[in-house]
Amino acid sequence: MHTARTVRELRSFREGLPGPVALVPTMGALHAGHASLVRRARAACRSLIVSSFVNPLQFGAGEDLGRYPRTPEDDARLLADEGVDLLFAPPEAEMYPRPQEIVVQPLTLAQHCEGLRRPDHFRGVATVVLKLLNLCRPQQAYFGEKDAQQLAVVRRLVADLHLDCDIVACPIVREADGLALSSRNRYLSPSERAAAPNLHRALQVIATALASGRSDVNALLADSRARMSPLRCDYLAVVRPDEFIPLDAVPADSELLAVGAAFAGNTRLIDAVKARTPKRPTEENVR
Ligand code: PAF
Repeated sequence: MHTARTVRELRSFREGLPGPVALVPTMGALHAGHASLVRRARAACRSLIVSSFVNPLQFGAGEDLGRYPRTPEDDARLLADEGVDLLFAPPEAEMYPRPQEIVVQPLTLAQHCEGLRRPDHFRGVATVVLKLLNLCRPQQAYFGEKDAQQLAVVRRLVADLHLDCDIVACPIVREADGLALSSRNRYLSPSERAAAPNLHRALQVIATALASGRSDVNALLADSRARMSPLRCDYLAVVRPDEFIPLDAVPADSELLAVGAAFAGNTRLIDAVKARTPKRPTEENVR
């Protein structure tokens, strides 16, 4: 595996890579969820680039940029073992040699759910993903479904700016008790870790109820919020996966997402569960 730390090194190594080329963008601190993206990309493309960059533009004031986990040696070992061709791990000055003047601002897609709680987060994500796609010029880029709103933003980035890259979404990898893998899980104390799957359980309850024809979304969300203790619920919502506007009423025969965020101590967890609504809500389930 070759490692590039500068844009110049990346460009020169990229020249020699046979296509199709896949990119897996990451912020490092890799876990089995990242490994599953890397394996899928490895199986699909002749060349594989993984980027590792903790992007300051997507962290708000008071968020965990300074203490975001960094495990570069372990990451490099994992990526070499998975047969990655090129690791792009630039320092901040390579990605942002001067204050960023031009940014990519998602509009309505960034107004609700994560976007409401983390103003400017998706602007930072969209801007760095566009830079990475321009630098690496992949035919395919791989993203996890856990960051479901990020995935929606990236899909619209590619569609609206006519980028020539397929976005491949990969399923969430979970612990045996349902907790979605995340680099931030390593912050959890034993008691926080024990409570952490309550977020996934709450989302599953919502998704199962919607699939069985329940349509009273707000009552459903209130019930689920009450069950999440000792987690502190940040928000729960039911959304269309390409819009992320919280729904009060669910449409029939639709692919929706139950999404949410909660705090275990100071650690913020997010998760998403798919829900397909039936063709028509059943009488007894309409309240
Ligand atoms: O999901 C992540 O790790 C980051 O948001 C990404 C896509 C690498 C952009 O910094």
